[in-house]
Amino acid sequence: MADNMRPESMARITTPELAEAFIAEQVAAVREQVGDKKVLLALSGGVDSSVVAALLIKAIGKQLVCVHVNHGLMRKGESEQVIEVFGKELDANLIYVDATDRFLDLLAGVTEPEKKRKIIGAEFIKVFDEESSKLEGIDFLAQGTIYPDILESDGVKAHHNVGGLPEDMKMELVEPVRLLYKDEVRVVGDALGLPHTMVYRQPFPGPGLGVRCLGAITRDRLHALREADAILREEFELNGLAGKVWQYFIAVPDFKSVGVRDGKRYEGWPAIIRAVNTVDAMTATIEEIPYALLHKITDRITHEVEGINRVVMDLTPKPIGTIEWE
Ligand code: XMP
Repeated sequence: MADNMRPESMARITTPELAEAFIAEQVAAVREQVGDKKVLLALSGGVDSSVVAALLIKAIGKQLVCVHVNHGLMRKGESEQVIEVFGKELDANLIYVDATDRFLDLLAGVTEPEKKRKIIGAEFIKVFDEESSKLEGIDFLAQGTIYPDILESDGVKAHHNVGGLPEDMKMELVEPVRLLYKDEVRVVGDALGLPHTMVYRQPFPGPGLGVRCLGAITRDRLHALREADAILREEFELNGLAGKVWQYFIAVPDFKSVGVRDGKRYEGWPAIIRAVNTVDAMTATIEEIPYALLHKITDRITHEVEGINRVVMDLTPKPIGTIEWE
């Protein structure tokens, strides 16, 4: 596929057959570009980097080195899934770095959202840099850049991307899905046999749960957030909302309210449910969630998650509320 072809004029990838053809074409192109050299990829477990990883494993196998940095702000089960799918099932050359303590130590006491983002972004680059400098003979850097990233590279999303890597990494880029839209990346991911939960994952900000554990992050509140979020996701999946709602998650503020449990005073944090629909994340509407389900989620979170004693729902569209709280 020539670089000067604009996606607007390309035939879109909408079926498994078209995805197979795209994969065959890219496998050949990557082999041609890379030869017998090694390629490095920061594998977050998000849709784009996962699809690039699977594609490159197919093309060049162990010549691809994937680095997964767990910043300790992943959702429940996500790093485990990366290890399971790429490390075990696809037998990738995977380096797993659990950098949780480094990130959480740096974030301790930091309340300002943009400062939190900067710390997470800078530390991510540092960890990735450290890992890549331990490797020898890497000539290429693979990235899960997709077409909207190129279109928006000077726009609103630019400051968001924690995965942005240092410019002085002198490696040639391998970007096999750079002319695709998100929906197409998903069709390709399906054709590559990646799990549905990975391919149809809702968007997750680079700083992860770091901007949902509001204010200064503490390990106990982060744990409560992760558990509550997992319950929300599980219930949305069980009740057919996962494919209907664009983004849904829990945020946990850093204050407590009074409650009662087992006849005793029980102070805890509130869990805030946010469930929005949008096309481009620039504006968002509130999805109506059946009350019976909200009751069930409230019951489960308040009973199963240590430290949470209330569940509330954020009904604010964007504008005026941004999707994330921070
Ligand atoms: P907001 O909160 O600005 O979010 O309405 C719009 C979309 O962007 C995501 N978001 C981020 N993504 N790094 C990211 O990669 C970030 O720092 C970040 N902040 C917000 C948000 O989840 C929503 O999908």
